[in-house]
Amino acid sequence: MNVLAIETSCDDTSASVIREGRVVSNIISSQDIHDLWGGIVPELASREHIKAIAPIVTAALTEANLQITDINLLAVTNGPGLAGSLLVGTQFAKGLSLRFGIPVVPVHHIEAHVYSGYLDDPNRPFPSISLVVSGGHTSIFLVRSYTDYQVLGSTRDDAAGEAFDKISKMLGLGYPGGPHIDRLARDGNATAIDFPRGLQHDGSYDFSFSGLKTSVKYYLRDHADTMNLNDVCASAQRAIVDVLVSKTLAAAQEHRVKVITIAGGVSANSELRTTMQDACTKRGITFIAPRAEYCVDNAAMIGFLAVQRADTASLDLSFTVDPRALRSL
Ligand code: KG4
Ligand code: ZN
Repeated sequence: MNVLAIETSCDDTSASVIREGRVVSNIISSQDIHDLWGGIVPELASREHIKAIAPIVTAALTEANLQITDINLLAVTNGPGLAGSLLVGTQFAKGLSLRFGIPVVPVHHIEAHVYSGYLDDPNRPFPSISLVVSGGHTSIFLVRSYTDYQVLGSTRDDAAGEAFDKISKMLGLGYPGGPHIDRLARDGNATAIDFPRGLQHDGSYDFSFSGLKTSVKYYLRDHADTMNLNDVCASAQRAIVDVLVSKTLAAAQEHRVKVITIAGGVSANSELRTTMQDACTKRGITFIAPRAEYCVDNAAMIGFLAVQRADTASLDLSFTVDPRALRSL
């Protein structure tokens, strides 16, 4: 089976080809234009997707050495995300389906992140605990199979990536903020400032990062002349990572799960990876951190989940986009 997958939920245009279960291309084009505005501008995002979609799909097919007529299954993200962005990808997929008679599987973006730890080896064991941390979502899932999972907790305010992005903005660094903070934190002292760890000991699997954001804001106001940028980055990053790791481990312990996966843009964070790895090693838990191209928004994860659910593929194109976060999860 040859699958062509399309992902346009936010600010990355991506297309991927999966051939007999193996990813043979995964092209990701990021939109730099939002850097100018310090955050994603939805209208600009849809316009950039419109420019990029046809060349990116063509590039994914070319790299896979296939033509559109070789494709047996289409997969496309239909939510959650920005409505205008989602429409570009879904309408493009529907156009291909109509023209070439290829069935489509609409894929839920967060579900695709949940399973991206299985992309390199679909036979990895279940159950697992999956931590999905991106610019729009922060949730912990108990995953029992490719069709059975449960949300254990989610953020009550900002997503972890949003916290990185907003703190980066306050520090005058660029967007997206995570990579800047990650880099600057390497030369900082993570114990220099005791930033709050929201909900860390409340017994739930929910998160809250708004207190941290406010705390950084007042710290910068009160220490404008003396503050050390690297220490602020390292301390804020440690506060985020501490909560993410402790809640994920608590979930694994409560549900007696021996596999932890992470996904979403923030899972590229170097401190999150090393801290989670060390904690898992100590407890005999297998830790799966997908490679960077599967952590960010990418079409390979969309195609991968479509392969697991190929029995739901249809020529019925009445599906719509659903921008709402975690709609039925
Ligand atoms: O999954 P993603 O590419 O897009 C969404 O669906 O949101 O995640 C983007 C988020 C941004 O907030 C960005 O700041 C964050 O991932 N991010 C990181 C790192 N790389 C990207 N956060 C922390 N450390 C990183 N190295
Ligand atoms: Zn995402």
